[in-house]
Amino acid sequence: MKLLRILSAFVTIQVVLTLPTYLQFHNLLNVQNPFIREDSIVRSDFNEWLSQQRSICFEGIINNIGGISNTLDDKEVAGGAVIASPSKIKPNYFYQWTRDAALTIKSLLFHLDDTSFKDNKLISIVEAYIENNYYLQRLDNKSGKFDDNDRSGLGEPKFLANNKVFDENWGRPQRDGPGLRAIAIMQYLRLLDKYEKSVSNEFLKSPEFIYNEILKPDLEYVVKNWPNEGFDLWEEISDMHYFTSLTQLRALKDGIKFATQYQDYQFLNELQSSFTKLKYYIENESGYKSNVLLHLVESPNHFIQGKRGGLDAAILLGTLHSHNLEDGDYSDIPFDVNDVYLLNTLTALVSDMKYRYPINRNKIGFDRAIGVAIGRYPEDIYDGYGTSEGNPWFISTASAAEIIYKFVYKLNATQQDLIVTRFNIDFYKQFSKDTQVGHVITYDSPKYREVILSLLRYSDSFLEIIKDHVDNQGHMSEQFNKYHGFMQGATDLTWSYSAVWNALRWREKVTKNINIE
Ligand code: NOJ
Ligand code: NOJ
Repeated sequence: MKLLRILSAFVTIQVVLTLPTYLQFHNLLNVQNPFIREDSIVRSDFNEWLSQQRSICFEGIINNIGGISNTLDDKEVAGGAVIASPSKIKPNYFYQWTRDAALTIKSLLFHLDDTSFKDNKLISIVEAYIENNYYLQRLDNKSGKFDDNDRSGLGEPKFLANNKVFDENWGRPQRDGPGLRAIAIMQYLRLLDKYEKSVSNEFLKSPEFIYNEILKPDLEYVVKNWPNEGFDLWEEISDMHYFTSLTQLRALKDGIKFATQYQDYQFLNELQSSFTKLKYYIENESGYKSNVLLHLVESPNHFIQGKRGGLDAAILLGTLHSHNLEDGDYSDIPFDVNDVYLLNTLTALVSDMKYRYPINRNKIGFDRAIGVAIGRYPEDIYDGYGTSEGNPWFISTASAAEIIYKFVYKLNATQQDLIVTRFNIDFYKQFSKDTQVGHVITYDSPKYREVILSLLRYSDSFLEIIKDHVDNQGHMSEQFNKYHGFMQGATDLTWSYSAVWNALRWREKVTKNINIE
């Protein structure tokens, strides 16, 4: 016995010492690892991994929020502040980005809704986030001031973790932030309504206070600034952007409901007229839908000037964050998950990145649709620390999966036949080989079910890639290297956890009634 114990202690020491190198090879070769630690994720069982990873993602989000985190120092991070990553050097992501924070809070809100609004700790953290943003909104910064006529200060992309202003050079303003924050806050107000709850946070007082003091300024920003160029969500180029315009349109749409509820009629008029104009712009003037391409274009002026090809995972994100069947009818917002141009965008991204990133080479030559690791956009050269070569991102790969899950969910919910046209044939051919232009695949026919199953296998194959590249504890950084597949860039990236969590949630929603074994 004693000998055994000594032996096992020895083995443990050996394992600890050599584990990182060993596991690296394990990742590479994708072989069973006899030394997997007990708290390691189970990669060999997809379903088991799905549920483990979902909790790890949730915990990953919580740990990056001030006041609730088990790992952050309360003295460094304001309560309710959502930091992008705990990484302070190489790269320094120890900031609160308006975008990352709002998108992440949305995941928490989905969870609150899925669990019938019972988790008081989570409720208090969401309210702390809203309160904290009241303070951030009012800070004078390099984008402008809160009290400026056009609310220009709200276009500031990020703040320090302790609520101080970030005053170095940066790609500013970024005009997606206020709309995204408004969307998140309105999602919370809808939950309060749905579960007939009042606001608990003393500072926030009431939904009406939140509407007047926090929500309305963000919506005013959108009303005044949607026609103006700004930096994209990747913080690199100034232009008009699909992601920004679509999410702004969604914010205006939700805002209309609240302005109506609060009988804020003059502002309601402004919201309605901005909605109509922005929708017209998106559909007819922007160039997001070009005359020459079958896919959508993220930053049209850069496309026209030949500086970008237009393909970008931001398009997937723009669609995901501006549409949700659960929240009601968004049919007057263009480019939902079943839009042919949107689906073609996904197909085009996959075709490009399959060849662009060497780790995808084993996905070439299949006769069925198969997911690959997806990066931000083909021309990307940001490697997570500086610039060299772009890599696949967890956010982009998870978004590809989520698009397909939501698409299948929508197909089931609307029970529509699939009509194959010359615009979508390339998409459907991947799921049913003998498909031809003019075919009608009737709802719930055997052929229809075959397509649905292949679609779900396709979305699962993106998640499989994520499974292969998270570390052994299910942690995620921003990117994984395009040659060897190891993670790089900011560690424990909040947005990676949120994006993967969302995809996992949609998988669960859509597969509830469908057996995909
Ligand atoms: C940091 C930004 O956050 C990232 O999106 C961008 O690609 C690089 N800077 C470019 O240098
Ligand atoms: C760089 C990304 O490009 C940007 O979208 C994000 O907001 C920041 N990193 C922080 O995660």
